[in-house]
Amino acid sequence: MSENPRKILVTSALPYANGPIHIGHLVEYIQTDIWVRYQKMRGEQCWYVCADDAHGTPIMLRARAEGITPEALIAKTSQEHQADFAGFTIDFDNYGSTHSEENRELANRIYLANKAAGHIHTRTIQRPYDPEEQMFLPDRFIKGECPRCGAPDQYGDNCEVCGASYDPSELKNPVSAISGATPVLRDTEQFFFDLGHFEKMLREWTSSGRLQPAIAAKLREWFDAGLKDWEISRDAPYFGFEIPGAPGKFFYVWMDAPIGYMASFKQLCEREGLDFDQWWKADSETELYHFIGKDIAYFHTLFWPAMLAGAGFRTPTKVFCHGFLTVDGQKMSKSRGTFIKARTYLDHLNPEALRYYFAAKLGDGIDDIDLNLEDFVQRVNSDLVGKVVNIASRCAGFIRKRFEGRLAGELAEPELFRTFVRAGDEIASLYEQRQFGHAVREIMALADLANQYIDEKEPWVVAKQNGRDAELQAICSMGIELYRVLIGYLRPVLPVIAEKSEQFLQIDSLDWAALAEPMGDHVIAKFKPLMTRIDDEQVQKMVDQSKEDLAAQPQAMPAKASVGDALVKDPIAGTIDYDSFAKVDLRVARIVSAEPVAGADKLLQLTLDLGGETRNVFAGIKSAYRPEDLEGRLTVMVANLAPRKMRFGVSEGMVLAAGPGGRELFILSPDSGAEPGMKVK
Ligand code: MSP
Ligand code: ZN
Repeated sequence: MSENPRKILVTSALPYANGPIHIGHLVEYIQTDIWVRYQKMRGEQCWYVCADDAHGTPIMLRARAEGITPEALIAKTSQEHQADFAGFTIDFDNYGSTHSEENRELANRIYLANKAAGHIHTRTIQRPYDPEEQMFLPDRFIKGECPRCGAPDQYGDNCEVCGASYDPSELKNPVSAISGATPVLRDTEQFFFDLGHFEKMLREWTSSGRLQPAIAAKLREWFDAGLKDWEISRDAPYFGFEIPGAPGKFFYVWMDAPIGYMASFKQLCEREGLDFDQWWKADSETELYHFIGKDIAYFHTLFWPAMLAGAGFRTPTKVFCHGFLTVDGQKMSKSRGTFIKARTYLDHLNPEALRYYFAAKLGDGIDDIDLNLEDFVQRVNSDLVGKVVNIASRCAGFIRKRFEGRLAGELAEPELFRTFVRAGDEIASLYEQRQFGHAVREIMALADLANQYIDEKEPWVVAKQNGRDAELQAICSMGIELYRVLIGYLRPVLPVIAEKSEQFLQIDSLDWAALAEPMGDHVIAKFKPLMTRIDDEQVQKMVDQSKEDLAAQPQAMPAKASVGDALVKDPIAGTIDYDSFAKVDLRVARIVSAEPVAGADKLLQLTLDLGGETRNVFAGIKSAYRPEDLEGRLTVMVANLAPRKMRFGVSEGMVLAAGPGGRELFILSPDSGAEPGMKVK
């Protein structure tokens, strides 16, 4: 460690404990891990903590659906998350859980301190209540008909069929997604945090260089809209911490989630003998950084600093937001196979490839970043295999075979080596500022110089000529010396390749300061391949498997999407008797015509022939079929569904289709010989 190291505490957002880590999450954890590894390499005292975000209704319901306790669910998920992170060498110094004793104590302490300071009050409000389940319903556990187009089964605040956004209370004929009962509004007394008390403090805090300009601008909008009280409690049943002195009331998941950063660090302090209070006291000289996605900026730049300040703790030094991952220019999609789990990636590809690709794309802003799968393969191969690793493999063989692994004591081209060393300051400052893409470009420019040097000196030609041994050793040693500096610069991004390189170079782990000093008179070990090319086929297999995952687990979805997964409470209770089935009038129908519907992204208007009778049906199958391909086909429809009035007209029935949706939808059709109008039994 350097003589007077900075003291830096770094966090990534705490992933929800009810879903797997996917490559979107990895943008954040890889970004943070690179920054932390860089700080450690610089000799700073830097700690990186994270935890699972284990509380809330979705986790409670998912555990119920799986027939296990929430504790068992979060224990299982924590293991999976940690294994996934380890697979990508995300090197947390501690990985905790918000459902820990440390977190309970800290949450209570922060709540009680804010309460004592007069920042918390209670108020009676109305919330939707499920009379059958006897519980209050979070917004996204209510479904109903879209207030705009009338599509049934819409969750939350936007319609999957027509894309309308609305307030969940506007859903028509709302039902509880848990029991199917009609929710009623019920009075309930809840706790509120007076964010408004902190307006002055927050205005100062947010305009003192702690946030990226785009986020600071967003905050000014929020200030102008007025800071509202924040509801920090929920009624039982809830999986979380009961509020001290308030039986039956629990801390809302977002209240104790960021406190999880502190709690995880507390565990680390106990293990490492660090002084927790020194890091968290109001005037602490230590640095605290949170890496988060832009979707959760509100929580981290308003509630969190306010709660900390209200309880007499320090506030974050900076909050670093990043954008969202798209794959091939579009949102990750289960049906396209681009909703790729960390585990699925690891089954097919080298984690360092993704670390490199993300690094090459990341900057200090909040723009979304795109994983273009073709570009990914091409870039990783040409940069890492073709440029970087190539330098070592071109030189190491000769050194090993002809000089017993011994490098020439002196540099053949000291000036070229100095060019590499001089670039270090610029590269360091780019890492510090999270300009990883720019840093990578600088490093690759150096790799080009090294390759040019080798191309010019043609060691493979020199090797064949008598009496040029010293020259051969000098050229190859120079190449290896340059390689060492390069891999040192890349070490925060490529820890595994760097470690393998350290082994083959037989050197201590590379810290930044050591890079300027050449190895000189030194013996290296046998060169082993450091990385192999990746190919399109591996990527294709990963994408295919991501589609299969989907088939295997139709109910898995990310925590933030609508519920679905948590809803099937009891599969047995979901059966129907024969009479109920017999009520459904299924018929063979011929699709006479199919046309797009103006104003509805996902609907086709179908004219169906039921053997004499004609029906007009709106079907959400546009993403899977071209209208002209449907015309003339036979399919199966529910003929006795009550007509439903939609914005575009009346829908008189429903056609049956299988699959998750999007492009993966398959309408059912009878074998040839069936006739329109036949009853399906
Ligand atoms: N549990 C909350 C965070 C609590 S922090 C006190 C949460 N969890 S999450 O699992 O949904 O997301 C974890 C982090 O991953 C968030 O910072 C989120 O922005 C980030 N990402 C989730 N999906 C992402 C992409 N598709 N792309 C980039 N980052 C994404 O939010
Ligand atoms: Zn709609």
